[in-house]
This record gives sequence, structure tokens and C-alpha cells, in this order.
Amino acid sequence: MITSNNKIIINNNCCDTYRILVIDFGSQYTQLLLRRIRELGVYSETYSFWNADISKISNFNPNGIILSGGPHSIVNNSYPNIPNALFTLGIPILGICLGMQIMAYKLGGTVKNIVLQREFGCSEIMLLSDNVLIKDIYDYIDDDTGYPIIDVWMSHGDVVTVVPDGFNIVGVNKNQQVAIMINEDKNLYGIQFHPEVTHTKKGKNILERFIKEICCCVSSWQINNITKDIINKISITVGKTDQVLLAFSGGVDSLVTAILLHHAIGRRFICIFIDNGLLLDNSISNRVYDFCIKHYNFNIIRISAEKRFLDALIGITNPEEKRKIIGRVFTEIFSEQISNLVSIKWLAQGTIYSDVIESGMSFSVFKNVIKSHHNVGGFTGIKNIHLLEPIKYLFKDEVRNIGLNLGLPYDIVYSYPFPGPGLAVRILGEVKKEYCEILRKADSIFFEELHRHDWYKKVSQAFAVFLPVYSVGIQGDQRKYKWVIVLRAVETTDFMTANWVQFSYDFLCIVSNRIVNEVEGVSRVVYDISSKPPATIEWE
Ligand code: XMP
Repeated sequence: MITSNNKIIINNNCCDTYRILVIDFGSQYTQLLLRRIRELGVYSETYSFWNADISKISNFNPNGIILSGGPHSIVNNSYPNIPNALFTLGIPILGICLGMQIMAYKLGGTVKNIVLQREFGCSEIMLLSDNVLIKDIYDYIDDDTGYPIIDVWMSHGDVVTVVPDGFNIVGVNKNQQVAIMINEDKNLYGIQFHPEVTHTKKGKNILERFIKEICCCVSSWQINNITKDIINKISITVGKTDQVLLAFSGGVDSLVTAILLHHAIGRRFICIFIDNGLLLDNSISNRVYDFCIKHYNFNIIRISAEKRFLDALIGITNPEEKRKIIGRVFTEIFSEQISNLVSIKWLAQGTIYSDVIESGMSFSVFKNVIKSHHNVGGFTGIKNIHLLEPIKYLFKDEVRNIGLNLGLPYDIVYSYPFPGPGLAVRILGEVKKEYCEILRKADSIFFEELHRHDWYKKVSQAFAVFLPVYSVGIQGDQRKYKWVIVLRAVETTDFMTANWVQFSYDFLCIVSNRIVNEVEGVSRVVYDISSKPPATIEWE
């Protein structure tokens, strides 16, 4: 499909015959929910509630709909509205937390605020009767009552006090408040807890019940099918003669995009790799670049543009402004290159689904607080060139699995992520060449020691950060004021939450000594012991 701004959307609808739509009310767990559904082998997408009109939903043709949680309250009347017609489409609907409350309210039930009985954290639900959604799913039987109990995770200040006509109360919490309400005839289900978080131990089973038994979906969203399907779609979309230009950042996403193109259209594509001077010596971009030249002999135009980027960043301290400037200069350089390549009809990008969601282009009510990703939408509207985004609907873990499926080495596919704006978001405040050089050296030492001490593969992401503050140190007999380096290392599966890594003191001591002794300009090394949330993984 070609849209008005020349965008090509490759819908992955061969292996997604079965599909679930998540209507997002601004929940911080929406991405997690989508991933859980896809882990069950069923394709899922999310539309923000304000973007979810009936015709759009019908076009998506979901087998089931999930209404997400969210930060709003029905009670103060600022709740996100959805069309009533949603409930008469005949499509099974599962409302989660706020999603259940909205369902109850819209169908004539009552929702009230419960100041003194709010629940944030673990809770227990007593199952009062059987239903296909929860049949035989429980954690234990309560000795006193004989009722099955499930351990769940809740986060709510409102409850449904009166369920709409036709609904049964199937589960209650310890305060006898509605925790599960079901209208079996209409296939409408509401749960007050979050099945997508791991603290709800049986959450995945409940989601599976809804998706497979109630919505009758079959697992067809499998890496093998997805890979073949995307290759097939690219070759049909691009045709037999057109040339493609790939914006090649050198990350896993653009590497996988390049390999998919290679399988789909052979050598009819050129990669442009812009070295913005904000890369690391060991960063994935440089390794991927070498790998592609050596193993695939890809046609890669490498443009060294360090000065142009650093000049554009002079005096800029705001992180989002830095990101935007880098995105702009990137687009400018790219456009210049494209104008030199007259035969190019397509511009391919390795945009992935979390880039789209986090850039707030479509979905989240939290869009203002999430970092912008410069590869989303950056090149739209270039005359006579269509944008091709073959992995736009995939999450990172799916992209990695496709990479492995295509035979890429594990070490490259599982390299630490490196942000598009590179060192600019690891140098706090203004970016200077001198700072980049110090940071590169410090990072290389950290990287070497992680490998030497067998930590590299145990850690999800690790890097050094440059703090532009002078701290006193002693060299010889002299007090000298020099810069501070922060070491950051996290363990995470989805990069949405992360724990800091508990290295041994000996290891930290080795890295710190080496950096202070070997990197001119550094007097102090500190280790970041903040988890995400509340901190983020990057410092800016
Ligand atoms: P945060 O800092 O948001 O990072 O916890 C989560 C993951 O995203 C990466 N990251 C970025 N990647 N452009 C990118 O391409 C960015 O602006 C950006 N900011 C953060 C970060 O390295 C981590 O893996």
C-alpha cells in the first residue's frame, strides 16, 4: 500500500491471519502486552484509543480486542473515550484494569474511587465460579473457603461497584470487590489485574485462554514464517528492476533489513552509512560495517561527517534538542546523497515497532515524556522516493530471532544496543570532540575488561558516560582537576525495566584503575547503581 506521503507499509499479514488488537489507554505495559501475545504465536498491534475508530478497527479485522490499563480515572470524567459500537461488533473483548472499568461504565455499570482500599502491588483473587477464561487456572485452593485463588498484580484506585446487565462476577479480591466480570453470551471479559506482568504468575495462561480458546486464534506468528513472508513482500513490493537505498546505521535492525533485502532483491540495493563521529571504537556499527563488507560484499557508501555533526551541536545542551539536531543533519546528508542517485526508487529503513510506539507517532498518551528516535519518519516526503520499512511491525527480540534465522552470528545479533544519537547522549550537556575521545577510550577499557572477566554476555548493555564536571584528583604530588567517568551496566530482557549489574568490587576496581591511569583527563570513576524505573538506561 502506498500512502499519500509515499510511505510503504509492509503489513505482515501472511502469517498474521490471526490477530489481536490492543486499544491503548496510555498504559506503561502496552508493549509488554503486545510481546506476550506475540510470544503466544499470534500477531498483535496497538492503536491508541483516540485513533481507534470503528472503521479502522474493522479494517484491521481482529479476532479479539484487548482494552489496556491506563493512568486515567472514570470517576473524574477525564477518562479516554471509545465508541460504544465497539461492544456490538461481535468480537471478543478483554478489558484489563482501566479497560475493564471503561467497559463496565460504557455498558451501564458503576465505577467508584476507593481511596482507602487502593491496590498497588500483589494481591489475591478468589474465583467464585468457573468460566472458560479461568477454568482450572489457579495458584492454590483456599483452606477455609475451598475456593481457588490466583496471585495477581494490581495497580488501581477505582473499582467496578455495579457490573452491567448480563455480566457475572467471577472473581473478587480480599475486600470482595469485583476483580473478574464476564458476559459469556456477548464474549466480553473484564479483569481488574494485569495478566501481562510476570508477578501475575498465571497471567500468561489467562491471556492464552482468551486468545486461543475465546478468540480461536492459532499460533502462526513464527519466526520462520515471518522471515519468508517479509522477503516475499519486499520482492513483490520493490518489483524486478527498482533500486533501493538503505539507511544503514550499522545496528542490528539495519543489518537485518539489509540481509532481508539481500534475499529479496539480490544486489539491487545500496547502503549509506553515515559516520557521525559519535560512534564507539567497539560499537556495533563499526563491527557490522566490517562484517557486511567481508561476508556479503555489500555496496556501502561510508560518509565521514564528524565535523558537520559536531559543528551543529556546538552550544547545545538539551538532550532532546541534540537528538533532533542529529536527526536533522542525518536527514540532510541523506537527502544530498539521494539526489546524487537518480535511479533510486525506494528508501529502506530498519525502523522497528518500539521506535514507532516510543516516538509517540501513533499511540501513547505518554508521548511527551519518551525520547524521540531519529529514524522514525525522518525521511518521509522525499520526492519520488517511497519509504520501505520491512520490519516496522517487529519488536527487537523478533528482529534478533530473524537475524539468527538468516544465519547471522550470535555475537553480532546480540551486541549491546547503541543509541542512534551515539555518544551525544552519553556526554552530558554540550558535545565536544575532546570529550568524545576521552569517552571512547574509557568505554574501550570497560569493554575489554567485560570480555576478559566473562561479563560481556551476562550483561544486557554496558557503557561509559562522560560527566562534564571537574573533580579533584592527585597525580604525583599535585592536585589536578579532571573529568568524571560513569560506568553503567544493566540486566534486562526487554529494556523497558532494568536492574543494575552487581559486579564484584574487584572487577570495578580493575576497570576504575585502568581508566584513571590510562585515560588522560579523567580523575574519577563512579558506578551507577540506579535501576529502570525510576532511572533510564541512558543518562540522557
Ligand atoms: P532508555 O535510556 O530509554 O533506553 O532506558 C532504552 C534502550 O533504548 C536505547 N536508546 C536509544 N536508542 N535512539 C536510539 O536509537 C535514542 O535516542 C535512544 N535512547 C535510548 C538505549 O541505549 C537502551 O538500549
